[in-house]
Amino acid sequence: MYGIVNKAVKGLILENYGESTWEKVKDHSGVDIDVFLSNEPYDDAITYKLAISASEVLGTPLSDVLNAFGEYWILRTGMENYGSLMEAGGDSLREFLVNLPNFHSRVMLMFPNLEPPEFRVSDIESDSVHVHYYSHRPALAEFVRGLLHGLAKMFKTEVEIKLLESREDGHEHEVFKVSW
Ligand code: HEM
Repeated sequence: MYGIVNKAVKGLILENYGESTWEKVKDHSGVDIDVFLSNEPYDDAITYKLAISASEVLGTPLSDVLNAFGEYWILRTGMENYGSLMEAGGDSLREFLVNLPNFHSRVMLMFPNLEPPEFRVSDIESDSVHVHYYSHRPALAEFVRGLLHGLAKMFKTEVEIKLLESREDGHEHEVFKVSW
């Protein structure tokens, strides 16, 4: 994944736990890189190692780390660095989610070698929508849940998020029901 992702993992830990905890997370992960370049691609294994190490060093379940990272990605990385792109996604949570399938095509203009996830939406109601998440990468469903919570906070909307189907349960992809 592009370095911006690892940079955000580092930012999340630095801002919440400080420099010494980041050093511990990095050492424990075995990743010997301190400065990540946003526009350079890195092996996915680096991102996974950092997230697993953060969970072990902090004594927090990996799912909580991934959830926190999803929120951070929207509220800090997205809103602070790519505000106009985030705003172009829609004027409400519902509109943003309905437009989500096209979102990473705009991101690809900045990151041409992106291997983006794929999103589809179905069951579009006035107060809920089903978000389908497809990826060749494993075990990121809780990251997606965190992203959805981050979007809800961005739009100051109270949400309930239910994972209806997942690859862990033998389905082909994840399906979240987002209700507000
Ligand atoms: C300005 C906002 C955003 C930027 C710049 C961005 C950029 C990226 C980048 C660079 C990656 C790593 C993939 C790679 O390097 O091949 C990524 C992955 C990912 N993005 Fe985005 N993204 C943004 C917003 C979103 C939003 C709004 C969602 C969904 C709510 C989302 C969902 C994901 C997921 C789930 C992945 C993990 C990759 C996978 O599942 O295969 N992103 N994105």
